[in-house]
Amino acid sequence: MASYPRFPEIMFTDTARLHARFLLRRHRETGEPILRLIETQTPWKAQMPVGGLPWEEFLERVIALLTTADSEPARAEAAARYAGPIFAAGRLAGDPAIHTWFGSFRYDTHPEREGVSLHIRNNSMPRSCFEDRRECFLRLRDLCAHARTRPFAVRTITCGSWLNDVPVFLSFFPPAYAAGLAASPPENRSGWGWWGQFIDKTGHLHAGRAARLLATGEFPHPRKEGRCSFDEFEAHVLRHAGDAIRRGPPLLS
Ligand SMILES: CC(C)(COP(=O)(O)OP(=O)(O)OC[C@H]1O[C@@H](n2cnc3c(N)ncnc32)[C@H](O)[C@@H]1OP(=O)(O)O)[C@@H](O)C(=O)NCCC(=O)NCCS
Repeated sequence: MASYPRFPEIMFTDTARLHARFLLRRHRETGEPILRLIETQTPWKAQMPVGGLPWEEFLERVIALLTTADSEPARAEAAARYAGPIFAAGRLAGDPAIHTWFGSFRYDTHPEREGVSLHIRNNSMPRSCFEDRRECFLRLRDLCAHARTRPFAVRTITCGSWLNDVPVFLSFFPPAYAAGLAASPPENRSGWGWWGQFIDKTGHLHAGRAARLLATGEFPHPRKEGRCSFDEFEAHVLRHAGDAIRRGPPLLS
């Protein structure tokens, strides 16, 4: 069975601090209730429940920490120190082997709309999963072959992610995919499709992008929804995987 790299524990506290700083800023600027901001503007609920701790109990405690009379950085720090270790035992920290991975890619099936959705976890930590494009195409070729064995006709592939704003990621798709990208509504930023950009290739907080969020209140990369026909995606992947095989393994320099 494949063994997968795990995110370092400290990442969960460092990113929770960033989430908390962002939501406190939004609360100050827009007056939106803390509870609603936690549910719509952080990936916290996606990581719960952890152990025997119910979401409601976690919420009550974290809201208390976020609403003291301390400064925003101090409140964010207190919330992160509480939430970080909980998330470090949660779903994102769990065993990735519950899914079938093709390198750093996996897919979910959506038979009702005859589609699959693509998901990305960096299984090359501490290297970037996109460093070796040749390997990516070969793994995506295997993913396509696997998806073709599903008991329904796969007609579309979708992916909702900040990675749709990153050129190397778009190179894995045919031109029709990039041409049809649509911005995701910022009213719901509760998933890693928004927040994954603040994790770097080593699995730690991405300090540069985090600093930009804190300075501007804006996400460096917006999340976008991508979609194209699965036939076109597969043809693109097979063409590039074929090129990669013909070129052979990368030469050592
Ligand atoms: C995806 C992930 C590995 C990217 O990590 P990273 O530290 O940004 O590192 P990368 O090396 O991939 O990217 C850095 C840059 O190099 C570029 N790059 C990477 N590989 C490249 C290649 N082979 N060719 C050209 N450019 C490349 C990227 O476009 C990026 O450009 P930028 O600096 O202008 O933003 C990391 O953010 C992560 O693990 N996130 C959590 C998982 C996630 O977000 N999943 C998606 C949820 S939908």
